[in-house]
Amino acid sequence: MSAVHFRRDFPFFQHHPETVFLDSAATAQKPQAVIDALTRFYAEDCAPVGRSAYKAARQADRRYRTARQTIARFLDADAAGIIFTKSATESANLLARAFARPKLCKGKNIVITAWEHNSNYLPWVEICRESGAELRVARPVSGPDFPVVLDTLTDEHTVLVSCTAASNVLGDTIPLAEISALCRQKQIPLALDGAQYVAHHPVDVQTLGCDFLFFSGHKVYGPTGSGVLYVRPELLDEMAPFLLGGGMICGDDPECYAPGAGRFEAGSPDTAAFIGLAAAIDYLNTLGRDAICIHEQALARQMQDGFRALSHRVQLLGQPAPDASVYTFVCPGAHPFDLACLLNGHGIAVRSGKMCAQHLFDALGQPLGGVRASLACYNTAEDLHRFFNGLEDALNRLQRK
Ligand SMILES: Cc1ncc(COP(=O)(O)O)c(C=O)c1O
Repeated sequence: MSAVHFRRDFPFFQHHPETVFLDSAATAQKPQAVIDALTRFYAEDCAPVGRSAYKAARQADRRYRTARQTIARFLDADAAGIIFTKSATESANLLARAFARPKLCKGKNIVITAWEHNSNYLPWVEICRESGAELRVARPVSGPDFPVVLDTLTDEHTVLVSCTAASNVLGDTIPLAEISALCRQKQIPLALDGAQYVAHHPVDVQTLGCDFLFFSGHKVYGPTGSGVLYVRPELLDEMAPFLLGGGMICGDDPECYAPGAGRFEAGSPDTAAFIGLAAAIDYLNTLGRDAICIHEQALARQMQDGFRALSHRVQLLGQPAPDASVYTFVCPGAHPFDLACLLNGHGIAVRSGKMCAQHLFDALGQPLGGVRASLACYNTAEDLHRFFNGLEDALNRLQRK
């Protein structure tokens, strides 16, 4: 299937035919199939879930249950361990509060890395501060260093390792198999932040060997307001409820919480968002995960060739893997914000700044942040051709001064 075909499925590009959208790491555009699923729910099937016996409500229950199964299959996970949240951010906070916080006290520690998005950084800072536990931050120089630095920081007092599966700043490969082998060997639960991973790689939580994995639906072509926290089902009983309210109790006893994932989904859910997320996953499966990977790898090669040709003027941060989907760069003499504005003048959408990873940019010695171009299945070779032409033009203007 050609890239042009992928692109045709996304109405955004009919409304913005001249836009080169290279900000999918922030949020991905939505295929028509997702928009249709949302519209159908609101127009034809709108009803509460898990609460009522009438026909439309039972239909909504079925759709919602099917959505959970679709998402479980997408991760090769047991549907019992799929908790619906509103975002990766909420998932990380739930994990921190429900699983880790009750186990933390002085003498215990949590291990994360310096490559985390604030969503997988600040919840740990806060619960360690509250409990007197220690937050240990692994500082790898590049992707291959992750297992070694994590090994030196973990010990018998480590309650959890929470690590990004793919950084939102650096495109380096992170050796997930080695990290999970290390955690298994040391019997430490492992959480993976999959926010930048799941749209670009087939995911199988059994092979990944993680105990938790979370992501946001909107970065995987689904609706905003949909997020997932996968929990290895055996661990669910170790977790305390996070939000309290309707729909999370067992029978009539308000103090007996529902078993399994239901205990963590208090209140009326964003039903449409999860039906939309399941539609996004069905759409990806229809395109074929392999076809998407092959297409994105070709784009990654073109990206890396383009940056190599400009290496005298542009510094790419990190060492992007052959299939990297994010490219963050800095250019001597050009402020990232100015570059992003000039690229916008060429119809090119990129992100500039510190991408919610201030501590990483500090560690990289980049006080102004950088510019990030990120890929998705709808990008084309022509997009990247225009991006590099636009970048050269922006550099000619800014670096001349
Ligand atoms: C690696 C990573 N983790 C977590 C998040 C948080 O996602 P959200 O803002 O959708 O909750 C992001 C968002 O950019 C991210 O890139």
